[in-house]
Amino acid sequence: MIENIKILQKELNIQFSDKVEDNFPLIWLRDHAKDELNWDERSNQRKTFTARIDSNLRIKEAIILENGKSLSILWSDLNSAIKYSHDFLRENIFSQKTNASNLKLWKSDDINVKTFIDYELATSKKGFKIFLKKLYDYGFCVIKDCKKELNTVEKIAKKIGYVRQSIFGGLWSFESNENMADSAYTSEELRPHTDATYSNDAPGLQLLLCCHYNAQGGESIMVDGFKIADVIKKEHKDLFDILSTVEVPGNYVGDGVFLESKRPIFKLNSNKEIVQVSFNNYDRAAFRLENDLMIKFYEAIKKFDLMANHHDFQWKYVLKPGELLIFNNWRILHGRKAFKGSRKMSGCYINKEDFDSVCKINNII
Ligand SMILES: [Fe+2]
Repeated sequence: MIENIKILQKELNIQFSDKVEDNFPLIWLRDHAKDELNWDERSNQRKTFTARIDSNLRIKEAIILENGKSLSILWSDLNSAIKYSHDFLRENIFSQKTNASNLKLWKSDDINVKTFIDYELATSKKGFKIFLKKLYDYGFCVIKDCKKELNTVEKIAKKIGYVRQSIFGGLWSFESNENMADSAYTSEELRPHTDATYSNDAPGLQLLLCCHYNAQGGESIMVDGFKIADVIKKEHKDLFDILSTVEVPGNYVGDGVFLESKRPIFKLNSNKEIVQVSFNNYDRAAFRLENDLMIKFYEAIKKFDLMANHHDFQWKYVLKPGELLIFNNWRILHGRKAFKGSRKMSGCYINKEDFDSVCKINNII
């Protein structure tokens, strides 16, 4: 509840009953007025012409209402008072904390049956949230007992968001195919990587359904890139600084396109927390740095790649027909051991923002 308020020169001090207090800038409060004149309830969009707000704006009167459930402010430039709910204010206190710290970073020993779920449960009203929570916490999940058809991939994708179109189409099925330009179509070992380092907006989720397996080998490999970042930051700060600042270009050249993008291997937000791992040694394009830094860069990716290829960091599993592996391509590196025989997979990509959206709607984040 709101316990106390104090009007300051350019701020309003608000004390909450849980001992938290914060100074809200007056301009911010005025900008978030949610009356009919300033806010479109239907579209959740601002109607305020923010640039026109008087920078010398004042509070004429402020009153705590409903035993602290809300606050009413009469602004110098408006005729009627604006109501602000406790929940809205409490959610918007100034904080450096973000959701990244809630994730369960892992090494291979930390992963067991927790990351499996049955199709029936994952797609049920009650179980969908359980599935999402596993996927959010660990960055990947295996859905068992799926129908071995492309339609299953689409059904799961549509529960989360929608199928993303890319150079590979929307929904895809493949076996090893030497005619495609991408390394994903081979039966040789695929070392851990993230997909689409050549895309400005790399896919957020990848779904891979095993439809047929008559082979030896071919274990799928999952590696928590955020865990590697965490370890490198603690043990090799100089290498972490390189991996989080040097923009590495990736490209996809072939099949009639020339796609290219670049970003650091560890992309950080303004709070210096990791938000995305991008590493694909296959797709890295030629680039030069000043020589000393270039040599140091090779040392940094060597450290990263050796960790990603070390069994301590690798969760390995042979997908059986009817099992679908889904993973967060912004966090988890994926790979596959070599195999001999035949293997048919179906899959698709989903945008990161749609994964974030469904997590928010289900109160996971
Ligand atoms: Fe891949």
